[in-house]
Amino acid sequence: MSKKLQQSLKKIFSTSKYVFDILRAMPADSHPMVMFSTAILAMQRESEFVKEYNSGKLKKNDYWAPTYEDGFNLLAKLPAIASFIYRLKYKNGDIIASDAKLDLGGNFAHMMGIAKPYDDVARMYFILHSDHESGNVSAHTGHLVASALSDLYYSISAMTNGLAGPLHGLANQEVLNWLHGVYDKMGGKIPTEEEMKKFVWDTLQSGQVIPGFGHAVLRKTDPRYMAQREFCLKHLPNDPLFKYVDLLFKVVPPILLEQGKAKNPWPNVDAQSGVIQWYYGLKEYDFYTVLFAVGRAFGVVANII
Ligand SMILES: CC(C)(COP(=O)(O)OP(=O)(O)OC[C@H]1O[C@@H](n2cnc3c(N)ncnc32)[C@H](O)[C@@H]1OP(=O)(O)O)[C@@H](O)C(=O)NCCC(=O)NCCS
Repeated sequence: MSKKLQQSLKKIFSTSKYVFDILRAMPADSHPMVMFSTAILAMQRESEFVKEYNSGKLKKNDYWAPTYEDGFNLLAKLPAIASFIYRLKYKNGDIIASDAKLDLGGNFAHMMGIAKPYDDVARMYFILHSDHESGNVSAHTGHLVASALSDLYYSISAMTNGLAGPLHGLANQEVLNWLHGVYDKMGGKIPTEEEMKKFVWDTLQSGQVIPGFGHAVLRKTDPRYMAQREFCLKHLPNDPLFKYVDLLFKVVPPILLEQGKAKNPWPNVDAQSGVIQWYYGLKEYDFYTVLFAVGRAFGVVANII
């Protein structure tokens, strides 16, 4: 990220207290994605686009300018809102203040309270999860809502709601849940190829999808999966869950091909990402899709502008 962009983001970093008050007032069992979407929507009153539009002087060709302002304001606040939700929900509300000397990934890791190299994990995660082809549910939803001239707060909140489904962004949470199911069944030992194949077939035969595999648009292994795989091979090659994922990469595609339904039998971004979060101590899977949403918002905001 350029120095100039980082400075602009830092200037508008602070999030108004009322947003945190709203989050604190929500029932303790609210899903983190609901909290994230609510916080974004609550800030709609701050929209520069709405102010200028309501002035009656905004020309169509200039819509992008206050939208750009809204984008900056919103994106700068998302890491602080996400980490606030995490600390509120899972760390007894022990909130860590932001440190403006750090870059976005560094500050996020700091506010989450997770040591290095989690700052690098955050940078990688946000970049890889930003929008990649605009046809997926979250990006499409963001565009659709913005096409009604609803401002970025409405559109990014809606984007978040689309991402929250198990066939989309929540798949990263599903993968971990599913992997832990295998892990518990195997008593923690690394399954043989045959045992893993059986587990995959059992899942398919029970009428479920294999989370983390398949894609609506891609027809090959997701490059974002490969980037995360490289990271795992470097930083956590001996992690048992990574070994499971590695084994799945080998056994699932031939099974999906044999089953003959999925147009793309290869792993997607979600197959690998939860394992990395788990390894660095972020064990609350419910939170994983919020991380996805922070990254995705960068891509969708850019596309809407
Ligand atoms: C991503 C996904 C929703 C794309 O859906 P899609 O565009 O309809 O995919 P396809 O056209 O390949 O689907 C054709 C059939 O294959 C099935 N299929 C696709 N991926 C599958 C998977 N991973 N496991 C089992 N079946 C799968 C579909 O459910 C569909 O079955 P149906 O005809 O009985 O409805 C789908 O691949 C999926 O459910 N994957 C698992 C969830 C996941 O990882 N989501 C994150 C995506 S980034």
